[in-house]
Amino acid sequence: MVIAIDGPAASGKGTLSRRLSTHYGWPCLDTGLLYRAVARTMMDQGIASDDMDAAARIAGALDPATFDEKTLRGAQMGEAASVISALPAVREALIGLQRDFAGRSPGAILDGRDIGTVICPDAEVKIFVTATSEERARRRWLELSRSGDPISFEDVLADIHRRDARDSGRSTAPLRMAEDARLLDTTKLDIEAAFRVAVGIVEERLSGRATR
Ligand code: DC
Repeated sequence: MVIAIDGPAASGKGTLSRRLSTHYGWPCLDTGLLYRAVARTMMDQGIASDDMDAAARIAGALDPATFDEKTLRGAQMGEAASVISALPAVREALIGLQRDFAGRSPGAILDGRDIGTVICPDAEVKIFVTATSEERARRRWLELSRSGDPISFEDVLADIHRRDARDSGRSTAPLRMAEDARLLDTTKLDIEAAFRVAVGIVEERLSGRATR
């Protein structure tokens, strides 16, 4: 079974995927890390962010097992990833890796922006996680403040608005909710409550399978 979790930046989809992964014992892939790793490698090698050929070559040679997550997290890499993720050749080069992962048995969880629409359109469970931009910025700001980053709330909110606009406005695989996805608005939910709703959605599918 494939669980596809999509949603905008800082919606809590990563935390939700990891919780589901622990709960069901299925592997999860944070596909944002793939785009972040392409952006990081380009930066490290001094390659311009609009060099489509180089970006696609790097994307095609990625090995998630070698990722150093610490160097990929953070607002700067998120922004750079958002920019290169609009390049169609980069997206194309990352399809195979993601679909291979999705084929793992008995189940796999992938989170990103286009999992339910492009990567796994036949996923049995699709959840679109969202929250208001103010709430997402508040969570991200708290997280950054706790880690000692002195960024202002207004700057975090502006960053979220910019990323939402770019990720939803690009022409290839834009961020959007699949028609058959379930909407999970976490604005008024804590992670525990969101997790319970998500498990309910998966269980509904699993029991539907058992009685078919
Ligand atoms: O989920 P994230 O914030 O780590 O993702 C970073 C950027 O990567 C995001 O702004 C857009 C891009 N991305 C994408 O285009 N498609 C995905 N499936 C995942 C991420």
